Order: sequence, then structure tokens, then C-alpha cells
Amino acid sequence: MALNKARLDRFLAQHCQISRRKVRLMLAQDRVLVDDRIAHDIDEIIDTFSHVTLDGQAIQANSAYYVMLHKPVGVVSATKDTIHKTVIDLLDSAFKDELHIVGRLDLNTSGLMLLTNDSRWSERLMQPESKISKCYLVTLKNKLTADYIEAFANGMYFEYEGLTTKPAKLTILSDYQAEVELVEGRYHQIKRMFGRFRNPVVALHRHSIGNLQLDRELLEGQSRQLTEIEVNNINK
Ligand code: URA
Repeated sequence: MALNKARLDRFLAQHCQISRRKVRLMLAQDRVLVDDRIAHDIDEIIDTFSHVTLDGQAIQANSAYYVMLHKPVGVVSATKDTIHKTVIDLLDSAFKDELHIVGRLDLNTSGLMLLTNDSRWSERLMQPESKISKCYLVTLKNKLTADYIEAFANGMYFEYEGLTTKPAKLTILSDYQAEVELVEGRYHQIKRMFGRFRNPVVALHRHSIGNLQLDRELLEGQSRQLTEIEVNNINK
């Protein structure tokens, strides 16, 4: 979803069908509020989620929504699909059709997924420079050995993309289970990295993104809205 931006005077002129000269007068008379603050600046840039009022009447009052979902295996990370149930189908909120996905999980991966209608937030999280970490619990078919740790930390060359993966932290939890922390999200990245050791991934579950942990009490298929603190602190 594109985040529409506009200059305040243009936005008001268009929405209220008045001249920009009249808009300037209304601003000078302190009649316009943007996000509960008196607006004076005709050049102010507002976006889809700016709350704009004129004489106390809402001209625009869109809300930003941020959702954490516990994605089950077998549900597709898409907004529409002709075969599988989608993550959107699992939600019951009135605003669900406005949402887009912040980073995909494979069909057979479970765990934390984020959805929002705030593309500024999702773009920030998805930018490679944000280096936001994603943690996965991985269950493997064959036994793990200590050499995996260095191989993940060194990165692996992915011929198809022509790049070396960024250093990934692998912690061995038991013979067949590891935690992997990635700062990027290449296609089937974890499965391909374990594939180098000819060790198939039996189960993959994402339990955190940045500072945000999937709630333990959120059962598969369940979701909840994030708090303002969670939204602001996810990559701090
Ligand atoms: N790596 C994978 O292989 N699959 C996912 O869903 C996420 C990371």
C-alpha cells in the first residue's frame, strides 16, 4: 500500500473544495489541527494517517493498525490465494482487508508474522539497512555439529542471487534443534543454509522480530494488535 503524502494546503483545498488563499486564511485563524496540534504551515506534509480537523470536524482520520499473528503451518503468507487459506483469512478485524504483510514465512513455517496498513513502518523494518534480527527455532532431520556455527557466521554464497548471506548466529540447543538469528530474509534462507550440510529442516518456527516476541499465550491462528510501545520499539 502506498503511503499518500500531500502538502497540507493542497489537501485542504481539494477536500473542502476551496481556494488555497482561503486555506491560508483558515490556517492563520487557527482553525486547522493536524494530529491535535494547530497547523500554520501551508508547506506541512501530511500523510494517510495524519488526523486533520477543520473547526473541530474531521477531514481525515485514518488509523494505522499493527497486528501480530501466530501463523500456523499450511497457511500462506499472502493476502489472496486460490488454493490455501491466507493469513488475512485468519483475522476477524473489520480493517483486515487494508493490511499488508511485513515479511513472509514459507507455507510450512509457523510463528510470528506482522501485518499493518502503515507502509512507512513496514518499509522501514524491511530495509536491509535496518538489520532487524529475526529468530527461528529450527528442528533438523540429522544431528547438528559445531561446524555449523562457523559456517552460518561466515555467511554462505547463494549462486542464484549472486551474494553471500550476512553473518547469522546459530546456537545449538540440542542434537536436533538450533536457534538461528538472521538479519535478512532471502528466499528459503534457513532451509538452503542447512541444505549445505545436507540436513533437511523438519520444522521451522519464527519466535521474534527485533524486540518483539510472539506471545506464548497466542495460539496458532490467533492474533492481536500491537501496543504503541511495541510499534515504536521493535527495532530499538
Ligand atoms: N527461512 C526459510 O527457509 N523459511 C522461512 O519461512 C523463513 C526463513
